Amino acid sequence: MGAFSKSPKLQVLFIIACLFSPCISLKIGETCSKDTDCDAGLSCQTCAANGNTRPRCTRIQPTNPTSKVKGLPFNNYTWLTTHNSYAQAGVRSSTGSLIIAPMNQNDTVTSQLKNGVRGFMLDMYDFNNDIWLCHSTGGKCYNFTAFRPALDVLKEIRAFLEANPSEIVTIFIEDYVTSPSGLSKVFDSAGLKTYMFPLARMPKDGNDWPTVDDMAKNNQRLVVFTSKSSKEASEGIAYEWNYVVENQYGNGGMVPNSCPNRAESSPMNTTSKSLVLVNYFRDIPNASATCADNSAPLLSEIKTCYDAAGKRWPNFIAVDYYQKSDGGGAAEAVDQSNGQLTCGCDSITYCKVNATTGNATFGSCDVPKLAPPPPASLASTPPSGPSSNFAPRNSKSILLRWLCGTILAATLSMRI
Ligand SMILES: *[C@@H]1O[C@H](CO)[C@@H](O)[C@H](O)[C@H]1NC(C)=O
Ligand SMILES: *[C@@H]1O[C@H](CO)[C@@H](O)[C@H](O)[C@H]1NC(C)=O
Ligand SMILES: *[C@@H]1O[C@H](CO)[C@@H](O)[C@H](O)[C@H]1NC(C)=O
Ligand SMILES: *[C@@H]1O[C@H](CO)[C@@H](O)[C@H](O)[C@H]1NC(C)=O
Ligand SMILES: *[C@@H]1O[C@H](CO)[C@@H](O)[C@H](O)[C@H]1NC(C)=O
Ligand SMILES: *[C@@H]1O[C@H](CO)[C@@H](O)[C@H](O)[C@H]1NC(C)=O
Ligand SMILES: *[C@@H]1O[C@H](CO)[C@@H](O)[C@H](O)[C@H]1NC(C)=O
Repeated sequence: MGAFSKSPKLQVLFIIACLFSPCISLKIGETCSKDTDCDAGLSCQTCAANGNTRPRCTRIQPTNPTSKVKGLPFNNYTWLTTHNSYAQAGVRSSTGSLIIAPMNQNDTVTSQLKNGVRGFMLDMYDFNNDIWLCHSTGGKCYNFTAFRPALDVLKEIRAFLEANPSEIVTIFIEDYVTSPSGLSKVFDSAGLKTYMFPLARMPKDGNDWPTVDDMAKNNQRLVVFTSKSSKEASEGIAYEWNYVVENQYGNGGMVPNSCPNRAESSPMNTTSKSLVLVNYFRDIPNASATCADNSAPLLSEIKTCYDAAGKRWPNFIAVDYYQKSDGGGAAEAVDQSNGQLTCGCDSITYCKVNATTGNATFGSCDVPKLAPPPPASLASTPPSGPSSNFAPRNSKSILLRWLCGTILAATLSMRI
């Protein structure tokens, strides 16, 4: 410690580092007491709904698939998608009114983008002489179902696309807009027209989409689908059901071992539609139950839908409260699907560096040896079964805390 103890500057830096950055950095599944205890991309959560009462580091960000396997067609990747992305719990309507409508997420679209969400389901309505994002009924928006003007959220997306020149975002519009060219105007006002992937380039016959590199090079990085068929002819905005298949949303899509198509969609196995979207959320969102839904049942549904879709992994996985799970959650589901699609491995994180399909490396994977996670429940509710890996606390974190504490104390006791 020679140089260290003689250099006040180093000591101060070390103290600052200890105070303002976590001295401990925990991995997925390790017990924690707050978000900052955990590595980047993790949050400290419980999932009481399925018995995970011990707070553990839980994933909230998928791996960016193009950082691992580059240059494949757009339909060879999976993107994390939020259902009713704009319906943020606890917010007031921009009209000032209280909102009386189900809420589906717990953060802003900007925060979702930062966490790797790349698909957004937005319900658009004519309202107050503008286009608004409303969670409403009967095709009409009211003050108490109106969240925000669509322009606000579209501008957040534009800022992201501007700042991240190789990222691609997809918007699924549940379209109640009847005002002439209403959608075109609002995308135009948001400065998004220039980013829109042209209708003419979307494959209608089940062919591959252009590659993500091509989309980035041409700056055609915003894919937009509407639920209204007439908009394709009138405004050049793609009618979703010409390009995408989706399973049933809501409770009907959560029946184990079943993956029926939603009414508007062609059957899941219609391979002339190149994109596959898996919905997995309840009719009425339940914030405390979602962590259980987004865990093992979500992974299981994705495998079921893979079979139903003619052995196709989903391109979009749409959930409520995307950050909630008992560990890997929607982020893990996206990584698994990306692994299968891009390199034939169980997770994108196992793909070899620079792996590409059509290369002999497809299916050859770097699978790390994983340490078993600590038990799910607190000591008061011991886990059933023979598992006895009951470490009271992660030993690495104890060591790190001790080290930080000792150096801090030693440093403080010296005059600096
Ligand atoms: C893309 O995925 C489709 C099936 O989803 C597969 O048939 C095709 O070979 C893949 N293309 C590439 C370039 O990986
Ligand atoms: C709805 O909100 C607007 C403000 O945006 C207000 O002027 C109007 O009176 C409200 N309407 C009702 C029915 O509360
Ligand atoms: C949203 O997140 C905040 C902060 O993490 C938390 O206090 C709140 O309970 C969450 N709300 C829901 C509905 O998940
Ligand atoms: C597609 O799925 C339907 C059931 O939804 C089934 O009847 C049909 O045989 C399947 N088609 C193919 C080509 O697998
Ligand atoms: C929401 O989920 C929790 C946890 O599973 C459950 O106890 C509660 O009854 C649910 N609430 C509703 C309204 O279904
Ligand atoms: C991966 O590809 C990049 C550029 O194509 C190259 O610079 C890098 O060395 C490659 N890495 C490995 C491990 O082959
Ligand atoms: C396959 O990958 C290896 C290294 O990972 C690379 O050297 C080779 O050029 C690739 N072949 C093709 C056809 O992409």
